[in-house]
Amino acid sequence: MSYGFFDDANREYCIRRPDTPYPWINYLGSQDFFGLFSNTAGGYCFYRDARLMRLTRYRYNNVPADAGGRYFYINDNGDVWNPSWKPCKAQLDSYECRHGLGYSVITGARGGLSATHTAFVPLGDAAEVHRLELSNQSGGKKTFTLFSFVEFCLWNAMDDAANFQRNFSIGEVEVCGSEIYHKTEYRERRNHYAVFSANRVSDGFDTDRESFLGLYNGFERPDAVFEQKSRNSMASGWAPIGSHMFEIALEPGESTSVIFVLGYCENPDDEKFESPGVINKAPAKRLLAKFQTDAQVERALEELRAYWENLLSRWRLTPRDDDAKMLKVSRMVNIWNQYQCMVTFNMSRSASYFESGIGRGMGFRDSSQDLLGFVHMVPERARERILDIAATQFADGSAYHQYQPLTKKGNLEVGSGFNDDPLWLIGAAAAYVKETGDWGILDEQVPFDLEEGTEVPLMEHLHRSFDYTATHLGPHGLPLIGRADWNDCLNLNCFSATPGESFQTTANFESGVAESVLIAGIFLYYAPDYIEICRRRGEAEKADRAERAVSAMKEAVNNHGWDGEWFLRAYDAHGKKIGSNECDEGQIFIEPQGFLVMAGVGLDDGRAIRTLDSVKERLDTDFGIMLQQPAYSAYRLNLGEISSYPPGYKENAGIFCHNNPWISIAECYAGRGARAFEVYRKIAPAFLKDAVKLHRTEPYVYSQMVAGRDATRHGEAKNSWLTGTAAWTFVNISQHILGIRPGFDGLIIDPCLPRGVKSYKVERLFRGVRYAIMIDNTAGVEKGVKSITVNGKPLTGEILSDRDAEVIVVMG
Ligand code: GLC
Ligand code: GLC
Repeated sequence: MSYGFFDDANREYCIRRPDTPYPWINYLGSQDFFGLFSNTAGGYCFYRDARLMRLTRYRYNNVPADAGGRYFYINDNGDVWNPSWKPCKAQLDSYECRHGLGYSVITGARGGLSATHTAFVPLGDAAEVHRLELSNQSGGKKTFTLFSFVEFCLWNAMDDAANFQRNFSIGEVEVCGSEIYHKTEYRERRNHYAVFSANRVSDGFDTDRESFLGLYNGFERPDAVFEQKSRNSMASGWAPIGSHMFEIALEPGESTSVIFVLGYCENPDDEKFESPGVINKAPAKRLLAKFQTDAQVERALEELRAYWENLLSRWRLTPRDDDAKMLKVSRMVNIWNQYQCMVTFNMSRSASYFESGIGRGMGFRDSSQDLLGFVHMVPERARERILDIAATQFADGSAYHQYQPLTKKGNLEVGSGFNDDPLWLIGAAAAYVKETGDWGILDEQVPFDLEEGTEVPLMEHLHRSFDYTATHLGPHGLPLIGRADWNDCLNLNCFSATPGESFQTTANFESGVAESVLIAGIFLYYAPDYIEICRRRGEAEKADRAERAVSAMKEAVNNHGWDGEWFLRAYDAHGKKIGSNECDEGQIFIEPQGFLVMAGVGLDDGRAIRTLDSVKERLDTDFGIMLQQPAYSAYRLNLGEISSYPPGYKENAGIFCHNNPWISIAECYAGRGARAFEVYRKIAPAFLKDAVKLHRTEPYVYSQMVAGRDATRHGEAKNSWLTGTAAWTFVNISQHILGIRPGFDGLIIDPCLPRGVKSYKVERLFRGVRYAIMIDNTAGVEKGVKSITVNGKPLTGEILSDRDAEVIVVMG
């Protein structure tokens, strides 16, 4: 039986079985307050920072999986069940979970009672709203008890999971009617608390977990629920929770709703208390007043819908009704791919069901690449992001690998030395300028390492990025790799033999020898944009110098980066080749093949085609292209983490989806539309079909990794949601396959398609103007534009109109 289906008209994925192969989650929230919400109501929420401002507790790697969330229990005369199936797992007569854009709706029914749980974060509020609609579908009167349940986290999620000698003594709450306040540490240095409240008078409450559950019970067997009686417990230390009890009676056919708000509130330091020890509830009252009625909830949901409609209206594909393939593409490109791009914008790599929310901050390279996928939706916020990222750069052009979202400070624990980092800033800035035409950003004053007094124009940061690569070259004239390049796990200067040591931060030495052919590719790919920006700003000398650096780099790649049938990956600290036919394992890597062809290397002499054919022959599988082959069968001191993974997982020959689109884009540059599309399709969730069970993760978003051919579980995915795959596949499908790409002067139109795609339309909002672009491929070519007319006038080159434009593109 299938687990669910896409409902495109509603922009939802509809799940019809609660026991999905893995928890299938959604993200609630769009700016400051976020929630992770699974199809069985599991997950947690936080304010701005998943580590430091966690409102509710979640235990990763728990047994059973995905325990803890926003739970509602119904006790219908001794029959206890949850509309979300979990945690009690009483069999439901019907179940449905609809994950939509920024909201989820779970409906469960049992014994003639139906309950619909709608969860979302309203725009502009720091809160989750949970509405429970109950309706009596039986022939007789129903009286039952409804319980709510959330478990509070003591704010710092790391400490919360570790420091029990303190934590078990600090929990504090207040209860005021149906409002439950979690105020741990408010007495000291915090000026924020959480509130969990309902819009009707409760018939009981609990705030102490043991009292509610019973010490030896799990979430599936709370004593209070089974005995149909709240304890009215007041937490004092231990584990504060929020639970309400309501006794409800419904006539046949009658419905009612209860609206719950779980919110974050802050007070100014001098207004923290309304009387000694009693918190000032004014901000909570203001928040709660907004969600007292169904009409208010409906309006907030409407606003959320309008928000997404606006974001998604900037890029919309309309395929022909009879083109099944393109209908699937539109499902991805119009809805889920862009949605996932926004999630990566908000979360970077911090909080998912695979990222614990206590680990990584914002990545320099990750965030720069994520930006490629959302710059068209939120250009103003992309602008701010670029300036934040640039402010963590060092004066020599290198960069902090990560920074903390709350402070925006570079992360000292991880430090710098990932030598691809600086170049991604050029990529992000160029993408932003092309999208917006806002050249002014390059004059913004941005500090180094967030240090006051060091401000220089953003343009200077780009110079330093470029020069850093151009001047840190190894014996073959190729870029030195440092701790790692894009592949975090290719640690050529690490040589770690100590268990537990971090491969990324333990660069035991800088050999001055280990070089990356991939960085050369990234450098060559972004150099033309950099040079163009220099020229247009009148910085001719810099442009000339950059051109000389580019020639030298090309020569280095030609002389030392080509292996005969594909591009080499790197040279190790001993100057030995990696990713070569001469190697016993790890003979061919995906990354340089993608980036060097994207950069145009080998397009004129047949090497591009040869290398792409080698990729197909040696790395391709039914589920995407593997990172390298053959997998490393044992740990190698000179390579680091890549060889630490069992064969087929992660960077050791897993299908690392992030760089599959590079190959697809490279195929577009080579003009092979059918193959470009095949590469696109193999990892696109809408094309998964029967593999859903094997794949396991959410069938509507990309995962970072799918197990490669060497793995026992080949085809199984992990690390869904937070991956650079989202941005790069969007770039690939929108700019290269469907072929509508921002240039410095306007839109460039240059599709590369399977021959069977006869026509499609794209609506694109670009620099304030709406373009309706019709692509006519009756000729059935893979590439080649014969003519373009804009509002009836023939045109060549980049398109820029000052009013709404009809664009007709004939391929041939
Ligand atoms: C992870 C990291 C990313 C890196 C990739 C390959 O996705 O977030 O920065 O490029 O792994 O190692
Ligand atoms: C680990 C992961 C890799 C990730 C890195 C981030 O090495 O395997 O994918 O990029 O951590 O630090």
